[in-house]
Amino acid sequence: MENSPEITPISPLLEVSGLYKSFGIAGRDPIQKEQTVLMDINFSVAKGAFVCFVGPSGCGKSTLFNILAGFESQTAGSVLVNGSESRNGNSKNIFVFQEDGLFPWMTAYENIEIGVKDEPDPEKRRSAVEEYLELVGLEGAGGLFPHELSGGMRRRAEVARALITNPDILFMDEPFAALDFLTRLQMREEMINVHAMFPITILFITHDIDEALQLADQIIVLSERPTTVKADIPVEFPRPRDFTKPGLASLRKKIYFFMGLHAAL
Ligand SMILES: Nc1ncnc2c1ncn2[C@@H]1O[C@H](COP(=O)(O)OP(=O)(O)OP(=O)(O)O)[C@@H](O)[C@H]1O
Ligand SMILES: [Mg+2]
Repeated sequence: MENSPEITPISPLLEVSGLYKSFGIAGRDPIQKEQTVLMDINFSVAKGAFVCFVGPSGCGKSTLFNILAGFESQTAGSVLVNGSESRNGNSKNIFVFQEDGLFPWMTAYENIEIGVKDEPDPEKRRSAVEEYLELVGLEGAGGLFPHELSGGMRRRAEVARALITNPDILFMDEPFAALDFLTRLQMREEMINVHAMFPITILFITHDIDEALQLADQIIVLSERPTTVKADIPVEFPRPRDFTKPGLASLRKKIYFFMGLHAAL
């Protein structure tokens, strides 16, 4: 009998096909009663990829995330996580919201500990929380309440809280938008380090093209509404990335071009 080698197809972690989303409009226009926000969105994401989504304000990025995470239903199309419909609850999705998501009555330590509440061994819980506090540079600050932390420290605690659950996909919708420029740059660097240590799949919305270029393995550029995928670009430069390198500089130019920002170059 012939012994043929077994071929295991590598399927993507996330596969989005023919995704549409329309919203009913309760406004006063007697004719337009529906607005198509997402129109035939197609892309796939490999396990462990850091994917950044950029696109004009109001194009439907948050709507897309809500659908991918199973919080909202699509009008048409499919979202497969590990080959099955994402709604089956077989995927541990985590959202890190734009706004502060820490419980204000709990310390940073206790907020992060929520992510390992199912671990019965208190010693294992403690060492996990300590490890993640250290990972995000919050060692020694675990006993502080959210209002005692700076904006950057709160973000770090939220990142730790998300990572400690070891999610299949970490959704981050403009997580650093409210931070000052310098703290933002620091958070960017930390995300690069964190992702190098824990290569979980991260879907990340940003308005900042440089942020996307620093972080992403894949950049998905969305169009104006009705929104389609304008470009789906693999970014294969080693990190940390140097924007003076010709390859990266021309990629940045290309993305600005896709965003219709010719004059900004
Ligand atoms: N629940 C809803 N009902 C009706 N329309 C909605 C609803 N949620 C979102 N929309 C509409 O969908 C469009 C996309 O909104 P969404 O918040 O997804 O955009 P976005 O790309 O995340 O914007 P931003 O960059 O400003 O965060 C908007 O026109 C918005 O009015
Ligand atoms: Mg949004």
